[in-house]
Formats: sequence, structure tokens, C-alpha cells
Amino acid sequence: MNLELELDQLSGTAAEKIDAAADARALEQLRVELLGKKGSVTELLKQLGGMAPDQRKAFGEKVNRVKQDLSDRLERKSTTLSEAELARKLASQTIDVTLPGRGEAPGALHPVTRTIRRIESIFNSMGFESVQGPEIEDDWHNFQALNIPESHPARAMQDTFYVLDGSRLLRTHTSPVQIRTMKRRQPPIRIICPGRVYRVDFDRTHSPMFHQVEGLYVAENVGLADLKHDLQQFLSLFFERPVEALFRPSYFPFVEPGADVHMRWALPGQEPRWLELLGCGVVHPNVLDAVGIDPERYTGYAFGMGVERLAMLRYGVDDLRLFFNNDLRFLEQFR
Ligand code: FA5
Repeated sequence: MNLELELDQLSGTAAEKIDAAADARALEQLRVELLGKKGSVTELLKQLGGMAPDQRKAFGEKVNRVKQDLSDRLERKSTTLSEAELARKLASQTIDVTLPGRGEAPGALHPVTRTIRRIESIFNSMGFESVQGPEIEDDWHNFQALNIPESHPARAMQDTFYVLDGSRLLRTHTSPVQIRTMKRRQPPIRIICPGRVYRVDFDRTHSPMFHQVEGLYVAENVGLADLKHDLQQFLSLFFERPVEALFRPSYFPFVEPGADVHMRWALPGQEPRWLELLGCGVVHPNVLDAVGIDPERYTGYAFGMGVERLAMLRYGVDDLRLFFNNDLRFLEQFR
């Protein structure tokens, strides 16, 4: 067959096939069939070699035109196909922006945080200032300055987590904050120190990390009567009712005399029992001496209360560990 005629036919049918290609794969197949190494246009070009020179030039130009034309056509078709594909995707993935949103559940303060804030606000209203201190302490602030020398049996009262080489520890109570404050200031001092404390302790009413609020009042003529009055007032304000509190003599090396304060606590279906809330007492003269306050002139009282214990009583929770499990079903009840 005449090569020119063959080229015309090829160009005609190829153009139709390109226009009819249904998707990108079919189009790619066509490109290979026409313009690939063994494609029909390429085959025609190969025949140029056997032609007379004058024919070769004219035919060569024509084949190249057809080749360029088909290549442009393939390109245009490819663009059309991908635009159609994009339009199809967009149509199938439409987002209805008028639908109502899912909404975020509003968060709430943790019951322990709420309890700390409540304790603070009551004491602040009674004239106590809030003070913070470090959770990693040294032996002197946590024990020695509090009249607990090394090897003193009272150390066994608080089972301690030591840090690395044993020269530092996780504070076992918030009492070292009273030491730090008294070292910085002279009386009158009236502070509370809320914060985390750590002990090797774990059961229904004990947790290895828990919160205490330490209180300290040092001035002239402060004594046990002030302590009892102020704590009784605090408890009534905290529980919003007259409270049956029991002051039971107790031993803490940093106070003399010392006491534990207990409150009635009833587990569902069980007899009420006394739950220990706090330790307290009149600041020991050795402690005032250790921080450079004259014990002949000044006296004071101190107390340290367990925040989770107060929260248990206020909210009727029977297991202290619930506060730390982060179970939303539990926490949501405190919204
Ligand atoms: C002390 O920590 C003293 N520093 C308190 C104090 C301060 C006494 C000033 C006198 C003067 P105690 O070890 O008893 O005392 O702890 C105080 C309170 O913390 C306890 O009454 C209890 O309510 C709470 N508590 C103690 N251990 C735990 C624990 N493992 N988990 C939760 N609460 C605890």
C-alpha cells in the first residue's frame, strides 16, 4: 500500500481511538501502540531509510507532523481524563458543611484539684498565704531540720523513695516547705503549702503519690488552743456542717505536743469507722532553732492534711485509688 495513504488512515483511526479512550490505562496503551519503540508511527518512520531522497524529506516531515499531532492529542486527552476523575472524586466525597458538629465534651477539674483549691480558698480567707516548694528534697529539709536526725526511728514512719545516689529523695510530706519558708522569713508567718508527696504505700486509703496541705502559724503566743480552734473552723467550713472531729494524741518529732485528727467515715453497708485526716501539733523548739527563729520569743502550730482523704469524705468515695485511675466514668461525676 502507498505509505502516504497508510499514514493518513493511521492518523484518522488513531485520532478516533484516542478520543474514545475510557481511562488513563487505555490511553497509555494507545500511546505505546502508536508512538512506542515498536509503535505503528515509529514503524513508518523506520521505512524512511529505503526511500528516494526527495521523497524521504517530504514523507519524513509528514510523519513527524502526524506524530506531533497524535502526541498533542494524547496529552489533551490525558488532561481531560484526569479532570473528569477529579470531578468524580469531588462529587462522591462532598462534605455537607451544614450538618451539625459533633461537639467537644467540656473538660472539668480533677476532684483532687478541686479539693486543693477549696482547701486553699478557705485557708486564704482565714489569713493563710499559699507557698510552694520542691518535690525532690534533700535529707536536711525533709528530716533533719524537722528534728528527725539520721538513724532516728521516726524515719520508719514514712517509707521513703530515694533518688539515684541516695543523697536526695522524693519528699514524704509537705513539711519541708515550712522549713524553707521559716529560713527565709521571720515571724509572724502564716502559710499553707499544698503539693504532691511520695511514700512506699499502697492500699484502699494509701497511695504512693498523694497530696498534702501543710499549714504553719508562727508568732508570739500561738498555742494548742489556736490550733484546735482553727482546724475545727476549717473542717466545718470545708464540709459545710458541724464536724465530729477527734483529736487523738500522737507523735511527730517536729511537734510537741502532737495529735492526729480523725473523722467518721462510713463505707456502704459497713459500720462507720474513724479515718485519719491530718497530723498536727505545736512546733518543737528544736525546729525553730534549726531555722534561726528564737523559740523563747516565738511559738507556733503546724498541721499536715491528706487531700485525697478529705476528698474521699466530701464526695463519698470509698477507695482512694479511684482518684488516680483516670477512669472517665468516675471523673465525669465531678463535673
Ligand atoms: C505527716 O506527713 C506530717 N508531716 C503531718 C504533720 C505536719 C504533723 C505538721 C504535725 C505537724 P502523716 O504521715 O500522718 O503526717 O500524714 C498526714 C496525712 O496524710 C495523713 O493524716 C493522711 O491523711 C495522709 N496520708 C498519709 N499517707 C498517705 C497515703 N499513702 N495516701 C494518702 N494519704 C496519706
